[in-house]
Amino acid sequence: MVTYRSPREWERMRDAGRVVARILRDVSKAAEAGVPLRELDAVAARVLREERATSPFLHYKPSWAPYPYPANICVSINEVVVHGIPDGRVLREGDLVTVDCGARLNGYCGDAAVSFMVGTGDEAGVRLVETTRVALERAIDRAVPGNRLGDVSAAVEETARNAGYGIADGSGGHGIGTEMHEDPPVPNTGRRGRGMRLREGLTIAIEPLVTESGRDATVTLDDGWSVATRDGSRAAHFEHSIVITGDGPVVLTAP
Ligand code: MF3
Ligand code: CO
Repeated sequence: MVTYRSPREWERMRDAGRVVARILRDVSKAAEAGVPLRELDAVAARVLREERATSPFLHYKPSWAPYPYPANICVSINEVVVHGIPDGRVLREGDLVTVDCGARLNGYCGDAAVSFMVGTGDEAGVRLVETTRVALERAIDRAVPGNRLGDVSAAVEETARNAGYGIADGSGGHGIGTEMHEDPPVPNTGRRGRGMRLREGLTIAIEPLVTESGRDATVTLDDGWSVATRDGSRAAHFEHSIVITGDGPVVLTAP
């Protein structure tokens, strides 16, 4: 069931979204070569505590998951597309890192993700990251009343495929509000002019998951959570939570 939210609720989601933005900023700043991934999780935990917010990721247990999610954020390295668990592994110069995080504050959620290279990074990695960021930007631009969900999905898919990249199989965003995952699903593939009509008050997370090789196939790793590309090529991921308004899309997880 799709819920349309009021301007009062947009404000509360914006408050949660600001916390998400602060976590992403602080974690990105801490993400240097030599840092263990669980230290990044500790940075997120500290911000959440300071802001009196909680993580909607921690202990989250979708039906397909073998056990509840064990951390506050996801940290996905190189060929890991999404849901990487921050553990004792250490960041290395040149890694392509994605940090995905959420916050719940006063009953409302925000969810966002960024990818970046540790250090300078290689040219191909930088281009993959930049194209994925642009895919999100273009998809957000299409999220206006009167357009259809397929316009948003097609913006993601066209941006990735026109650059020679792939879209992780079955990936996409979701409605967001009092729960992190609500209706409607927001697929990363689709056709313009198809799908449900967008209306003011719809709050969604848009999240392109883009693969470097152009192939879409993924596998779940032995930890039961991490999703990696099947061919081992790298992937990038950006995400924002937004609200569709009569004045256009408003990014709720902006700094
Ligand atoms: N942004 C990710 C998603 O919407 C968040 C996953 S949360 C986790 O799928 F708890 F499942 F890791
Ligand atoms: Co999400």
